[in-house]
Amino acid sequence: MSLAVALSKGKLFRGAGDRFRAAGLPFPDAEGRKLVVEQGELRFLFVKDVDVPTYVEHGIADCGIVGSDVLREADADVYEPLDLGFGRCRLAVARPQGAPAEPRHATLRVATKYPRLAAAHFLGQGRPAEFVKLSGSVELACVLGLADCIVDVVETGATLRENGLRVVETVLECSARLVVNRASYHARRDAVGPLLRALQAACAQEVGA
Ligand code: PRP
Repeated sequence: MSLAVALSKGKLFRGAGDRFRAAGLPFPDAEGRKLVVEQGELRFLFVKDVDVPTYVEHGIADCGIVGSDVLREADADVYEPLDLGFGRCRLAVARPQGAPAEPRHATLRVATKYPRLAAAHFLGQGRPAEFVKLSGSVELACVLGLADCIVDVVETGATLRENGLRVVETVLECSARLVVNRASYHARRDAVGPLLRALQAACAQEVGA
């Protein structure tokens, strides 16, 4: 039976392809609308990035590729045996450039796609905050006055810059991770083991290059 790999066609797709090919593993192209693609001994399941942990946790996929930002937010019960070393970015608090200092006792309104991580960050530091959950274009929330600040992923910083925001705190450094279903890790170790070792070797090669 083939090993099922959940991944999204989003920002991590190209890096995942590079790693799989460097590991001598098959990898699908992004063309077409088929959501399940068989390639050799692997069956790729194309899902939305935020759903990768869910498919892996429930064992529909044996393993998956997902950003650690999404993974921490999902808090899924999966193994995370490998940092794939690409898709590096950070989850950060950003505010409008020139905004006055954060008032000490006021409740901040924070817009984010990551309410769990944002709450852990602010409330963990004893800073009163309320959270507005958005699904994308989070920067707009600050620009249009829906929120005082945002917690969002920053990669190049271009989106912040072009919308008049700046990073004020880093919440989490992030990168792409290989995640594995806990049962598959043991029951399917004949297939999971070689996949993991091949990807580890490809990552080590990349680091040494
Ligand atoms: C992500 C993130 C930022 C942007 C950061 O959005 O939410 O908006 O990328 O990248 P940058 O620092 O290189 O500009 P994404 O493109 O995933 O779209 P979304 O806003 O719809 O979530």
